[in-house]
Amino acid sequence: MPSPVTVSEEQLKNQFTYIDAVSALTRGKQLRAYTHTFGCQQNEADTERIRGMLHEMGYCMTDRPEDADFILYNTCAVREHAEDRAFGNIGALSHLKKQRPDVVIALCGCMAQQEKNVEKIKKSYPQVSLLFGTHALWRFPSLLYRVLTEKKRVFDIGGEDDIAEGLPVLRAQGPKAWLSIMYGCNNFCTYCIVPYVRGRERSRRPEEIEKELRDLVAAGYKEITLLGQNVNSYGKDLGLDIDFADLLRRLNAVPGDFWLRFMTSHPKDASPRLFDAMAQCEKVAKQLHLPFQSGSDEILRRMNRRYTADEYRALIADARAKMPDITLSSDIIVGFPGETEEDFEQTLQLVEDVRFDLLFTFLYSPRSGTPAASYEDNATPQEKQQRFERLLKAQDAIVAERQAAYQGKTVRLLVDGTAKGPDYPFTARTEGNLLVCVRGADIEIGSFIEAEIDKTSLRCLFARKI
Ligand code: 5AD
Ligand code: SF4
Repeated sequence: MPSPVTVSEEQLKNQFTYIDAVSALTRGKQLRAYTHTFGCQQNEADTERIRGMLHEMGYCMTDRPEDADFILYNTCAVREHAEDRAFGNIGALSHLKKQRPDVVIALCGCMAQQEKNVEKIKKSYPQVSLLFGTHALWRFPSLLYRVLTEKKRVFDIGGEDDIAEGLPVLRAQGPKAWLSIMYGCNNFCTYCIVPYVRGRERSRRPEEIEKELRDLVAAGYKEITLLGQNVNSYGKDLGLDIDFADLLRRLNAVPGDFWLRFMTSHPKDASPRLFDAMAQCEKVAKQLHLPFQSGSDEILRRMNRRYTADEYRALIADARAKMPDITLSSDIIVGFPGETEEDFEQTLQLVEDVRFDLLFTFLYSPRSGTPAASYEDNATPQEKQQRFERLLKAQDAIVAERQAAYQGKTVRLLVDGTAKGPDYPFTARTEGNLLVCVRGADIEIGSFIEAEIDKTSLRCLFARKI
């Protein structure tokens, strides 16, 4: 496989010239930018790069779109609901655009990468002046410059599977940071739009990743999450002798007190080698998000997932044997075309068997252009909804039991924010990424503390700093 194309230094330098050119235009004007992100952590990481570029171009950030001179929606195409919300949000801005014609409304991300949406925006959403796809993100400065100077609408969904290093980034406040290690996906699960809008898998070079991690640790970040659609296939395209387990070991050797997390893993590529590395690396949090999607082998086959429910069970057993306290989470799709009552019961059975700490459960949403969108579907929406609710109920009972087992335990926590209630004023996370509300003297956001769990509920643990 060819190595990923890295955007050349010269091309990037060119974009930095546009950053300077836009800042010359914005100088003295105190312009404000608003961004909103739909979808996954990859999108959030992308938005942080765009905010970084905006910041360098002289914009201040605002939380209020009505105050902004530049408004950006970074969109998600994974389910119809996310698309509808994005269109709804942009639709609602037509009023603002009429009042203030100079405001620049932009759309980017997975939904923007699709031809059919570009046509729809061109035709029915004249308030959008800039649209760019996932491959054009690094060209944002030159695109914005064109919008500002040529006073016409700019659309760019071109580009290839490349990697741009060294873009500015403005991260969200707090002790946590995203670190993309790879982009794209080669798996083509039959329900999923991601490979069509994010392109083929391409890995960043390990030295670039390590450098970014060192910088993050030096800047005081305490929890760094490595991101990719399928992190377990990291390195396959690099032509170097490195895989994801090796990368974890290399990053674990970076000095400092921090937790490393990663997502998302695919069961077909997760391996005993990975679990050995996780178990042996003290900075790698003992937490695993391993989506299984369905407990029925027939549905898994039609989803093109390339593992069976029993293979999945064996992986979990291996992970638990090596890391007894590991926290497990998963994604499940309910109502995939052709799912029978029996198929669904196998999903329920897998949930009962594994006993996850957290589940993300989705109703299947047909995505045009994916194979499953044309599969025959027999179940009614009511049947699907009932299955969905049965699954939530079964999972709630499991979570209640797992949460209750924490009562009285001493845990290490990373304090990451303030809570709503006065009794437990801070929020924190366990190594397993469980949410905890904390009380006690001298608690600082961004610090690790020891605490004792003194109360539990379905959604949150409660603890006292010791
Ligand atoms: N419909 C419903 N859920 C989907 N996912 C991906 N595509 C679809 C779809 N078409 C879910 C999968 C994936 C998660 C990020 O989103 O469970 O793991
Ligand atoms: Fe979509 Fe499957 Fe790739 Fe995940 S692994 S992004 S579900 S195609």
